[in-house]
Amino acid sequence: MGGFVITGVPDRQTKFEGKITFYLVICAVIAATGGLMFGYDIGISGGVTSMDSFLLKFFPSVYYKKKHAKEDNYCKYDDHKLQLFTSSLYLAALVSCFFASAMCRRFGRKLTIQISSVFFFIGVILNVRANDLHMLIAGRILLGIGVGFANQAVPLFLSEIAPFHIRGGLNILFQLNITIGILVANVVNYYASKSLLYGWKFSLGLAGVPALILCIGSFLITETPTSLIQHGRSADGLEVLKKIRGTHNVEAEFQEILQASEAASLVERPFMSIFRRSSFPQLVIGSLLQFFQQFTGINAIMFYAPVLFEAIGFKSHASLLSAVAIGTVNLIGSVVSLLAVDKVGRKLLLLEGCLQMFLSMAAIGAVLVANGQQNQPLDNDSAMGVVMFAALFVSGFAWSWGPLAWLIPSEIFPLETRTAGYAVAVSSNMLFTFVIAQIYLSMLCRMRAGVFFFFSMWIAIMGIFVAVFLPETKNIPMDEMVARVWKKHWYWKRYMDDGTRSLKMEALYDAYSY
Ligand code: BGC
Repeated sequence: MGGFVITGVPDRQTKFEGKITFYLVICAVIAATGGLMFGYDIGISGGVTSMDSFLLKFFPSVYYKKKHAKEDNYCKYDDHKLQLFTSSLYLAALVSCFFASAMCRRFGRKLTIQISSVFFFIGVILNVRANDLHMLIAGRILLGIGVGFANQAVPLFLSEIAPFHIRGGLNILFQLNITIGILVANVVNYYASKSLLYGWKFSLGLAGVPALILCIGSFLITETPTSLIQHGRSADGLEVLKKIRGTHNVEAEFQEILQASEAASLVERPFMSIFRRSSFPQLVIGSLLQFFQQFTGINAIMFYAPVLFEAIGFKSHASLLSAVAIGTVNLIGSVVSLLAVDKVGRKLLLLEGCLQMFLSMAAIGAVLVANGQQNQPLDNDSAMGVVMFAALFVSGFAWSWGPLAWLIPSEIFPLETRTAGYAVAVSSNMLFTFVIAQIYLSMLCRMRAGVFFFFSMWIAIMGIFVAVFLPETKNIPMDEMVARVWKKHWYWKRYMDDGTRSLKMEALYDAYSY
C-alpha cells in the first residue's frame, strides 16, 4: 500500500505519508495480545464458578445451595463471596491503571506493557496454588493489576503507532484479542469441566499462556514515536517513525508530534490539568462511554453466560456450549468492526449497535416474562430463543460498544492529558465492570426478567447521547483533535476557550488549524 493523502476535510488537508509495514503489523499484533489476558479472564470466571469442584473447595455454601435447595432458578448463585471472586480483579485494575498511567508517561508504553504481563503471571501462579479463598483473592488482585496496566498501555500504544487512516482498525486488534481470550476460555471451561477432576486449576492456570506470549513478544516491539519524542529522544522517535511508516517522508507527522510534545511538556501535573475546563468534553465522553458500555449489560452475559444459561434451565455442559457459541459470535463481530470502523466511522457503528442491542435485550426479557415460572426450566423453544437473542445482542455489542469504548478515549485527548485522561476512562470501565459483576446476580434474583428491560432502557439512553453529543473522529490525526474536532463541535466548543492554557500552548494548537 502506498502513501496516503486525506482530502475532503473542509478546512485543511492532512498530508502524512505512510505504508502499512510488516514491522507496524508485528508491533500491533504483539501488543494487542494484552487483550488476551483480559478476555481470558472475563471468559474463565463464569465457567469456573459453575464447576462443582471449585465451588466445593472455595464456596461450599453455594455448592450446597446449588445441589440441595429447591429454590428458584434466578437465585441459586446469588452469593456475595462468589461475586467478590469475579469482581476483586476489577477493583485492583481500577486502582492500578492510575499507576500505569504515571508509568506510561514517565517510562513509556512498552515497559508498562511488559510489567503488566509479569503481574498477571504471578497472579496466575497464586490462583493455581490457592488453598483457600484468601490466596485465591490475592491471586485475583495481582491479575487485576496486570489487567489495569495492560488496558491502560495497549490501546494507547496501538493508537499512537497507527497511521491515522487505519487507527480504528489497528486499535480494534485489542478488542479482537479480548474476544479471542473469552472464546478460548469458554472452550477450556467446557473441556475442563467435562473431563478433569480439578478442572478449575487447569482453567485458571492456562491464563499464564497469554501473559507469557505478551512478555516474550514485548521484547520485539518498539516504543511509540510519541513516547520517545516526549522523553526527549526525538532522533530515535524520527527513526522509529520512518521504520513503522516504511518511508523517509515523515517530516509532517514528526513535526506535529514534536509540537504536541512541546505543548505537553508545558503541563507539569497532567492529573490536575484533566480537571480544567478544556479537558471536560474528553473526560465526560471518555468516562461516559465506559459507563454506557457496561450498562449495555454485556457482562451479565459474558461473566455469567454459563451460570445464566444454567439458571434458565440448561444442563451444565449445554450451558457451556451455548457460551462457546456466543463467544464465537463475539469474535466475528469484532472482526466486522475492525474492517468497518475507518470506513463507516465511529458514530454509525455505535448507533446501529444500540438499536440491535435494545431490541435483543428487550426480547430476552419478553421470553422470560412469557415463561413466568421461576423454578421450572424453560421449554426448548424459549431456551433457544434466549440463546439466539443473546447472540444477536453480543454481535451488536461486538462491532460497536465493545471496541469503540476502548478506541475513542485513546484518540480524543491531546498529548498533554492523554495518559491521565485515558487512565480515568480505563478506571471508569473497571469501576462499572466491578459494579455489574458485584450486583448482577443479586439483580437477577430480585428483578428477574426485569433486569433485561433495565439494560434496554440504558441502551436507549446511550443511543440518544451518541446521536447528540459524540463527535466523529474517523480519519483525524490524534494531534489535530483539539483544532478539528473539539473547537468545531456545536456543543463542546464552548469548553475550549477556558483561558487556562498558556499563550504558548494556544499558539501551538492554533498552528494545527492551518
Ligand atoms: C468490555 C468487557 C466485555 C468484553 C466482551 C470489552 O470491551 O470492556 O467488559 O466483557 O468487551 O467482549
